[in-house]
Amino acid sequence: MSDPLALLKQRNSAPRLTDPAPGPAELDEIFQAALRAPDHAWLRPWRFLTIGGERRAAFGALLERCLVARNPEADEAARAKARNAPLRAPLVVVAVVTLSEHPKVPHVEQRLSAGCAVQGILLATHALGYAGIWRTGDAAFDRAVMDGLGLGANEEIVGFVYLGTREGDPKPLPELATSDFVSAW
Ligand SMILES: Cc1cc2nc3c(=O)[nH]c(=O)nc-3n(C[C@H](O)[C@H](O)[C@H](O)COP(=O)(O)O)c2cc1C
Repeated sequence: MSDPLALLKQRNSAPRLTDPAPGPAELDEIFQAALRAPDHAWLRPWRFLTIGGERRAAFGALLERCLVARNPEADEAARAKARNAPLRAPLVVVAVVTLSEHPKVPHVEQRLSAGCAVQGILLATHALGYAGIWRTGDAAFDRAVMDGLGLGANEEIVGFVYLGTREGDPKPLPELATSDFVSAW
C-alpha cells in the first residue's frame, strides 16, 4: 500500500492467519519501522522475540505448562487451547518492554513506547501486504511465561503479535465520527 494515510486509516487485525509469514528481509523492514516508535530519551525500551516454525510447538508447551501451574483444574480443552495458540499464525513476535530507571522517563512512558513499537510492527506488516493481530491474555501477565521466554526481572510482555497472511475477507471497518472523540478545549 503506497498511500501512507490510507494505510493508517485502514490497518486492521486479522484473527485468522496462515502462510506465508513475512520473510527475513520483510521482517527486517517491519522491525525497522517498530524501532522508529516515539521514545523519550531514546531508551529503546523494547526487544522482540520471533517464534516461527517448529519453535511454536515449544512455545505452546510452555503456555500449557504455565496454564496448568496457574490453574491445576484446567481441563483438556483449555490445555489444548493454550498448547495450540501459537499455531494460529506462522509467526509469533513476542514484544517485550525492558524497563529501566530514568529520572525523566517513568515506566509508564517506557510501556507506551513499546506499545507504539507494536503499532509500528502492525502497520509495516499491513503495508507489506501481510496481516497481524496483537494478543495478550493471562499468559502475557504470567511471570512463569516470561521466565520461560528468558525475560529478565525488569522485563514484561507487551503482546504476542501474530503475523502471517490473512485468511478470509477483511471485516468491514466501522466509521467513527471524529467529533465523538475530539473537542476543542
Ligand atoms: C494490548 C492489547 C491486547 C489485546 N489482546 C487481545 C487478545 O488477547 N485477544 C484478542 O482477540 N484481541 C486482543 N486485542 C485486540 C486486537 O488486537 C484488535 O485490536 C481488536 O480485535 C480490534 O481489531 P482491529 O485492530 O481490526 O480494529 C488486544 C489489543 C491490545 C491493544
